Amino acid sequence: MSLDAVLAKIDETLPEALERLYAILRIPSISTDPAFKAECDRAADWMVEELRRLGFTTSKRPTKGHPMVVGLSEGPAQSTAPHLLFYGHYDVQPADPLELWDRDPFDPALEETPTGTVIRGRGTSDDKGQYMTFLEACRAWKAVHGALPCKLTIFLEGEEESGSKNMIPFLQDNAEELTADLALISDTALFQSKTPAIVTMLRGLVKEEITIHAASRDLHSGFYGGIARNPIRVLSGLLAGLQDEDGRITLPGFYDGVEDLSNELQAQWEALNFDHNGFLGGVGLSVPAGETGRTPLEMIWSRPSCDITGIWGGYTGEGFKTVLPAEAHAKISFRLAPGQDPAQIRAAFRAYITAGLPADCRVSFIDHPASPASQMSIAKPAFETARRALGAEWGEDAAFIGCGGSIPIAGHFKDYLGMDTMLIGFSKDDDGLHSPNEKYDLESFRKGTRSWARILNDLSTQGQ
Ligand code: BES
Ligand code: ZN
Repeated sequence: MSLDAVLAKIDETLPEALERLYAILRIPSISTDPAFKAECDRAADWMVEELRRLGFTTSKRPTKGHPMVVGLSEGPAQSTAPHLLFYGHYDVQPADPLELWDRDPFDPALEETPTGTVIRGRGTSDDKGQYMTFLEACRAWKAVHGALPCKLTIFLEGEEESGSKNMIPFLQDNAEELTADLALISDTALFQSKTPAIVTMLRGLVKEEITIHAASRDLHSGFYGGIARNPIRVLSGLLAGLQDEDGRITLPGFYDGVEDLSNELQAQWEALNFDHNGFLGGVGLSVPAGETGRTPLEMIWSRPSCDITGIWGGYTGEGFKTVLPAEAHAKISFRLAPGQDPAQIRAAFRAYITAGLPADCRVSFIDHPASPASQMSIAKPAFETARRALGAEWGEDAAFIGCGGSIPIAGHFKDYLGMDTMLIGFSKDDDGLHSPNEKYDLESFRKGTRSWARILNDLSTQGQ
């Protein structure tokens, strides 16, 4: 069977595929840090060349930020196969803190670990290693068949990790070119690190950065301590008030539009038998700390959350400085459930902080991009087709799952291009996305590539 030939090709050429992956991993394309602008550009150039070598008509498209890369491969003439668009992001998170890495984050290599062979390096699982599985599947397909089985657009972005500020205008300006029958994204995880999965629900994200200002300068804490307003105390009091003892967020209107899980989804998720003890145990925790009365899966997939992701102010260096700070800062991230409006959540948060300010304090807010949650309809036959193809590769039925993280582009594809997205990724819970010593299992890379070959095959022959 010709699919078998493609799968065999993937296994045979794995060492070369890894060399190609290393080449793009070596480029530190950290999108959030302006010092790495040239590196982001170099990563885009590398991807353009790679897509051209794969036979795609490819261009690097400038934006106000980092460039997009778009490649097109026309399908076979008079084909009934769907036009697919595959999206990935070539930018990565900063590697800090560098001292916690066991090797240079941008000098990738294979490493033997007690749980198997891993590819170590920044971007291995988020998202270079993941999107390269798709490109490697295309390469093997072409090597065997001479041409791809369907019309395919590859769309790579360089600003996903820094908020995709230029994405919506780009989609609007290039809507016709980018609209396909279905979008595919490989930027999510396996279920419990072993079960293949299609993500059908993503949480949204509102990021807030606030500064509470009090005195006009830092003060001696003996001279002024007791009489002067302390902005750190004000900030921590306000932040503490965001949640009640049942773990519910206290902002007025916060839960507007949030619905309980449908019985169908509830049953589906229950059948997954999620091992939350293992999930928490893997990071040294033991007790689910979300809303009372919610299941662990609801806490991470379908319920909104509010977390303080950074807080600073005063003197935090070595030793001790008896200082009463003039300012206090925090970063807060809200993960949103379907039905919540990011603008409304932002407004409610700002109103709460502003209303809670005592005398002699003022607040400033920094705008960061926000995005709503998305929920995929699995009505298209493509979802069942892909589920079966994944099952054939992994020897276990694929699950429809949620994902607590955010991939705003999936919502944008629907809203601006009317296009559904199928999210299939192969990372594992211990991959350390955004963390030191990020890795991607060699098994994820190999079976991920083989999975895409199967999915391409089945979508092209069985329709979408
Ligand atoms: N690949 C992640 C999304 C993800 C997170 C998938 C966890 C699976 C598990 C994606 O690149 C990401 O990190 N997204 C950001 C949002 C973005 C707007 C900065 C996130 O979720 O924090
Ligand atoms: Zn990602």
